[in-house]
Amino acid sequence: MKNSIHTIILITTITFSIILKTQSKTQPLPPFSCDSTNPSTHSYPFCDTKLSIDERARDLVSRLTLDEKISQLVNKASAVPRLGIPYYQWWSEALHGVAVAIGVENGIFFNGTIRAATSFPQVILTAATFDADLWYRVAKVIGTEARAIYNEGEAIGMTFWSPNINIFRDPRWGRGQETPGEDPMLTGKYAVSFVRGVQGDSFEGGDLKDGRLQISACCKHFTAYDLDKWKGIDRFTFNALVTKQDMADTYQPPFRKCVEEGRASGIMCAYNLVNGVPNCADQNLLTKTARGEWGFQGYITSDCDAVSLIYKKQNYAKSHEDAVADVLKAGMDVNCGSYLANHTKSAVEKGKISESDIDRALHNLFTVRMRLGLFNGNPNKLPYGNLGRTYICAPDHQNLALEAARHGIVLLKNSANLLPLSKSKTKSLAVIGPNADVAKTLVGNYAGPPCKTITPLEGLKSYIKKTEFHQGCNTINCTSVDIKVAVKVARSADYVVLVMGLNQDRESEELDREDLVLPGKQESLIMSVAKAAKRPVVLVLLCGGSVDVSFAKNEDKIGGILWAGYPGEAGGIAIAEIIFGDHNPGGRLPLTWYPKDFIKIPMTDMRMRPDPSTNYPGRTYRFYQGEKVFEFGHGLSYTNYSYNFVSVSQSNLKFKTSSSNSAYISISEIGLESCENAKFTATVRVQNEGEMTGKHPVLLFIKRDKGNKESPVKQLVGFKTVSLKANDKADVVFEINPCEHFGRANEDGTMVIESGKQYLVVGGQEYLISTHA
Ligand SMILES: *[C@@H]1O[C@H](CO)[C@@H](O)[C@H](O)[C@H]1NC(C)=O
Ligand SMILES: *[C@@H]1O[C@H](CO)[C@@H](O)[C@H](O)[C@H]1NC(C)=O
Ligand SMILES: *[C@@H]1O[C@H](CO)[C@@H](O)[C@H](O)[C@H]1NC(C)=O
Ligand SMILES: *[C@@H]1O[C@H](CO)[C@@H](O)[C@H](O)[C@H]1NC(C)=O
Repeated sequence: MKNSIHTIILITTITFSIILKTQSKTQPLPPFSCDSTNPSTHSYPFCDTKLSIDERARDLVSRLTLDEKISQLVNKASAVPRLGIPYYQWWSEALHGVAVAIGVENGIFFNGTIRAATSFPQVILTAATFDADLWYRVAKVIGTEARAIYNEGEAIGMTFWSPNINIFRDPRWGRGQETPGEDPMLTGKYAVSFVRGVQGDSFEGGDLKDGRLQISACCKHFTAYDLDKWKGIDRFTFNALVTKQDMADTYQPPFRKCVEEGRASGIMCAYNLVNGVPNCADQNLLTKTARGEWGFQGYITSDCDAVSLIYKKQNYAKSHEDAVADVLKAGMDVNCGSYLANHTKSAVEKGKISESDIDRALHNLFTVRMRLGLFNGNPNKLPYGNLGRTYICAPDHQNLALEAARHGIVLLKNSANLLPLSKSKTKSLAVIGPNADVAKTLVGNYAGPPCKTITPLEGLKSYIKKTEFHQGCNTINCTSVDIKVAVKVARSADYVVLVMGLNQDRESEELDREDLVLPGKQESLIMSVAKAAKRPVVLVLLCGGSVDVSFAKNEDKIGGILWAGYPGEAGGIAIAEIIFGDHNPGGRLPLTWYPKDFIKIPMTDMRMRPDPSTNYPGRTYRFYQGEKVFEFGHGLSYTNYSYNFVSVSQSNLKFKTSSSNSAYISISEIGLESCENAKFTATVRVQNEGEMTGKHPVLLFIKRDKGNKESPVKQLVGFKTVSLKANDKADVVFEINPCEHFGRANEDGTMVIESGKQYLVVGGQEYLISTHA
């Protein structure tokens, strides 16, 4: 550790103002090793930046005693003062802004001079922008702010356990809000954009010089984790039964993308078991698949206390020592919790593991710390060293939070073009509902303290001075409701905006829902207010998972419905801008909104594909063919867009394969060259047919002519956003790689392309593509 008084005495020629600045610093300097002012450690090979990181990590690990090694296997990694290595906290969070996990010690404090960071919309809403470039820009800001906090000495970690890229399989999942939704391709793209952005890579990737990291991202929760606590079944003991087929084309693809294209430096193995094996003890998953097949380079952490469960709750290991051996031999590197600190020594003594098993893990761990620049002396000299407090909550960062909210919000219904409301003709407004004026609700979970928040009520008031507010419900659960007053307030206003939905009391970590309706008496409040109001009302829904609002969809007195997810610190402005027409909404749903009777199927059933013989309907737009309240990709705007396929460079795709079945072609047998030859472009002309400028995400799907029960109904092939003025048109070019985009899994988990007729689909337009061997 650097002694600041010592420094001041040494550098006597320094200007007085700098001395003052140094003295006034209340926080310790950021922890770093190999400082040149500390000659006793500076001369170690692990400090020599001319050596490769691999060599340096090897040198460092070789200098540690067994006890020191064991002390590094947990998230609170002890200092090793004799080598100049400070304490390190592996656990930090940055899901949609630099965050804090509630109630536990993390690597970021927010207790010193930095008390806030830019709070972007919860991920599910940012995903609704279908804009990979925006995702990247958001992530880049998150990484920048995180690094800046560290540089200011107000953090002790730079390994962030984000993003959450599990598939939002069931609408009841309390953490679905943290994910980019239900589509594996979309989720994979989000993962790549997020990881590249926070880690300091370019949007296109491949730019991490010497593997150097701005901060480290971690793709979680590996794998098939999407149940928290439902009817007494919890994530700690849940054994997810997953078919090879669903694993291959639903659960794994986002992780694969995250590693192969995002180059994530971290992975977290999930609590649950998959087909009887705890994820963190699954060598096939961690070592063979992630490191072996996908080329993962980084560290693997357990979810918190996941290792202790393997013996204590899952009864998978027969002793503490077996549990330790299971995870270290599987390829896990660090344990969030203290279990490995407690039981690794005796695992070595009992011969369950050897020291080399520990060294393997430590090598990965120190490699990541070195890639973060923590062993290069004073980090202020590093490429990211210039990032300081002026970057935190910077105006352009906060504007980006607003931009993400604006473009994510989805207009679900707009009958008789009720919206936008006229700014000049609206003389008075009633704002009603328990979500209208609660700042905390806007940021969702895994949020840090926001720079500032503007609630929907505040946003709307900034447009219409004469705005009257009534909460309507006592709480979000709405066990009691003051309909009389709400109706009176509604009756006296020109227009009414209801702000309803859910919050973390209804859907969150360790809290899955048991129904899909609005809580308590919310519906009756909405209906009473709608009936009493002078004109059709506007309903704004804040929620991560979907709610069955068929009643509102079908009710003429509810003219407009907006879904605003949990829109982040600037969400209230974005909502108001959309309601009053200063922004033309363009978000589209990244998840299916199911009817309320969807809950007839147990949340524990992991199958994606339908099974008509047992009335199992299947899940997500790819497989579910039942009724929907709103479908994946749904989203209106204040204009209409028309689409036309103007050119498709190939539509008859012939694959050379070694063997083939008449029904499908195995992708692994196609070979690189034939895959390369099958690539083509599809150009779609998009025209803004309306009278308002808009940014519009164009979604391209592929649909089978005659699929069987194994085939998705349709699947997303690509998405691109286009900004168009009224009546303008533009050509959007999709680059399609059939080996990547047309695949689906067979029952044995092999990826195949179906032969026969397929259609590219955009809006109501279809284009025939034939595929054959
Ligand atoms: C902030 O919290 C950290 C971790 O709990 C603690 O070490 C540090 O002393 C605190 N700083 C201040 C200024 O309270
Ligand atoms: C490890 O040991 C400490 C001290 O005995 C104890 O407080 C802690 O609960 C143990 N951790 C686990 C995961 O068993
Ligand atoms: C609201 O309802 C949820 C779900 O039933 C429950 O977990 C929560 O404790 C309730 N909150 C309040 C404030 O009553
Ligand atoms: C878009 O087109 C539909 C169908 O023709 C029409 O009902 C609707 O009013 C149009 N919306 C706008 C904003 O122009």
